[in-house]
Amino acid sequence: MTTTPRLLTLVLAATAVSTCGADAPAHWQEHCAKCHGDDGKGDTKMGKKLSIADLTDATVQAKFTDEQAFTAMKSGVTDAKGKTTMKAIEGLSDAQLKALVPYLRALKK
Ligand code: HEC
Repeated sequence: MTTTPRLLTLVLAATAVSTCGADAPAHWQEHCAKCHGDDGKGDTKMGKKLSIADLTDATVQAKFTDEQAFTAMKSGVTDAKGKTTMKAIEGLSDAQLKALVPYLRALKK
């Protein structure tokens, strides 16, 4: 009897996580793909203009931590001259932004 509530909590927690992650592809399309491309290569008009790094490249992925990826989305990215190249992402919650981190990690070839 005592294990039942705990099991239920686990199931609910797992559902919450997977629901969140399930939105990541749609959020990527909506908020990231216009610059980073569908596949993360950055082979887009904006990507070329901003000289975006290829997120499918393992060495590029190794240059930032999960925390930095989150900060990039949350606060934006500036170049060496302090010019904003990637604006802070608007309209997504912290949890939704966090769910994009494993998504973008999975773009690595
Ligand atoms: C306006 C174009 C634009 C959009 C939209 C955009 N980015 Fe970026 N992003 C950039 C540029 C420019 C850089 C900096 C150059 C680089 O590292 O490739 C960058 C860098 C990054 C980095 C590397 C950060 C670091 O510390 O090196 C990550 C991770 C990232 N973007 C993820 C995302 C995600 C996830 C989204 C969608 C939620 C997104 N970007 C939307 C342009 C964009």
